[in-house]
Amino acid sequence: MSAKNFPGPNPQTPFPLEGNKNVQFIKPTTTRKNVSVGDYSYYDSKHGESFEEQVLYHYEVIGDKLIIGKFCSIGPGTTFIMNGANHQMDGSTYPFHLFGSGWKMHVPSLDDLPIKGDTEVGNDVWIGRDVTIMPGVKIGDGAIIAAQSVVTKNVAPYTVVGGNPAKIIKKRYSDKVIEEWLTIKWWDWDSKKISENIEFIIGGHIDKLKMNN
Ligand SMILES: CC(C)(COP(=O)(O)OP(=O)(O)OC[C@H]1O[C@@H](n2cnc3c(N)ncnc32)[C@H](O)[C@@H]1OP(=O)(O)O)[C@@H](O)C(=O)NCCC(=O)NCCS
Repeated sequence: MSAKNFPGPNPQTPFPLEGNKNVQFIKPTTTRKNVSVGDYSYYDSKHGESFEEQVLYHYEVIGDKLIIGKFCSIGPGTTFIMNGANHQMDGSTYPFHLFGSGWKMHVPSLDDLPIKGDTEVGNDVWIGRDVTIMPGVKIGDGAIIAAQSVVTKNVAPYTVVGGNPAKIIKKRYSDKVIEEWLTIKWWDWDSKKISENIEFIIGGHIDKLKMNN
């Protein structure tokens, strides 16, 4: 049977593996307006928790977004710490306003908080188990985040990082080949074309992908 008869899974299916409620496509299971996720990106939960439970301190009033591309693999226990986590740091860090009883009026303005912008994850990014992504971090296409890492800084495309704080372990390809992957952007192809080229995508046969682009 030809590849076009295998269009791949339906990206709108919340749980694409029959009988498995841990592996979830994130896009169809997301309800928050401030989270945007591309087709096929999945979260492999530890105990059936939803991906959104892993996105912490994400309050609409702050206005920051979590934006994730297509075909990302997100390992169990990974969390995204969003900007609402941060206390003001000019003087006392204690959130007096939360406890009311006369202290309520001392709610900090957004300008007083260290807001670092949206968190962005590109396409075909693999994030290992129990990783923590800090607010405002941008992770490029094709990057790999090693298990248990704490990512505090941006990660360039097709770069492997690991540790706490995460540091560069290696680049996956030469700069020239990385440019080629970023030009091809196979993740934006339709599912039929992806199916037809799947062996080249998996095998990293960049010349074949260039030819078929
Ligand atoms: C990063 C990873 C992909 C390995 O990549 P690799 O290219 O085979 O790396 P190596 O094992 O050769 O290690 C390369 C270096 O990275 C370091 N490293 C590997 N994993 C690391 C981690 N989790 N944290 C910090 N450093 C790590 C190694 O110590 C080594 O350091 P050195 O160069 O100073 O000796 C793998 O270690 C990993 O973390 N995979 C994620 C697995 C996971 O969580 N899966 C969950 C299901 S999605």
